[in-house]
Amino acid sequence: MEIKDILKQTRVSLAPMAGITDYVLRSLIREQSKTCILTTEMISSEALHNVKETDMTKRDDNHSPVIYQLSGHKPELMAEGAKYLESMADVIDINMGCPVNKVVKGQDGSALMRNPSLAYDIVQAVKESVSIPVSVKFRLGYTQQEMNFVPFGQYMQEAGAEFITLHGRTRNQMYSGKADWKKIRELKNNVDIPVFANGDVVSVETAAECLEESDADGVAIGRGALGDVTLISRIEHYLNTGEKLPPPLLSEKIETMKKHLDMEIALRGEKVGLKFVRKFYPFYISGVPNAAKYRSKLVVMEDYNEIIEALDFILKNNTNNLLI
Ligand SMILES: Cc1cc2nc3c(=O)[nH]c(=O)nc-3n(C[C@H](O)[C@H](O)[C@H](O)COP(=O)(O)O)c2cc1C
Repeated sequence: MEIKDILKQTRVSLAPMAGITDYVLRSLIREQSKTCILTTEMISSEALHNVKETDMTKRDDNHSPVIYQLSGHKPELMAEGAKYLESMADVIDINMGCPVNKVVKGQDGSALMRNPSLAYDIVQAVKESVSIPVSVKFRLGYTQQEMNFVPFGQYMQEAGAEFITLHGRTRNQMYSGKADWKKIRELKNNVDIPVFANGDVVSVETAAECLEESDADGVAIGRGALGDVTLISRIEHYLNTGEKLPPPLLSEKIETMKKHLDMEIALRGEKVGLKFVRKFYPFYISGVPNAAKYRSKLVVMEDYNEIIEALDFILKNNTNNLLI
């Protein structure tokens, strides 16, 4: 599938999030949107080289269009990893934006923005090894003083990237401050390939504002999808029809949380699955009175039935079915 064909059907993607956008979350979001672009968590090319068995690559037939994101800094390993993922992916994305210390120390993620020639070699090597489109995801620069996103994007385009997702922050900002959507417009004006804007799009309204300010081809949704698997489909619906659908009711969120739990258990087994979903509770119940109290109880529970009872209790105690 070519990028232009994917973009004919959607202007919204699920941004990659390590430990979050796993097979289960991608499946839950696909149930709501048949058209959006899904993205895997970043998959380390070094790890793939050593062990190919990983839950991270699991997909269903209906997951397309799906981007598989690779991280790493060795062109030959990145090319090898891309080749391995090619049969599952519609697009291979290269992570050039991850700000985490451990990642940048290893020269991966946003460290590549300080090493454009290596980033170029990676894109070229990946491009040569696969016949599907290659994309890149990066930030405004490493620091406020090194905002090289325009020349960097042009260089990635020259190397063969066919699509860019730009997070409107620098590496040093990590997740602080506000994403600068106007800067994304600067990149959009200076490259010929499609650009998706990313950062702080958390609602239908902010999606519309971001598209207006950035003039981007679409938006990539990260944290906004946490606890609300409908956000992406609601943004798509708004962009297609101009109609704003309401966010999910608490009862729907609790139902989704239970399903999320069941699917993680099916994927990882009960013991690991129960622990894995703990990070999601705060998002599904955010806005509920006493959410902090409920959350602290939920995250230590080890018994499936006890968790289901606790979720039902939250709903019963909020019978006005808060729109949260
Ligand atoms: C928990 C978490 C994990 C993330 N993992 C990745 C990743 O694996 N690859 C990547 O390119 N970005 C990753 N990101 C960054 C997001 O894709 C996105 O760029 C960022 O969160 C800003 O968008 P948002 O405001 O919509 O969340 C991660 C973000 C979060 C919060």
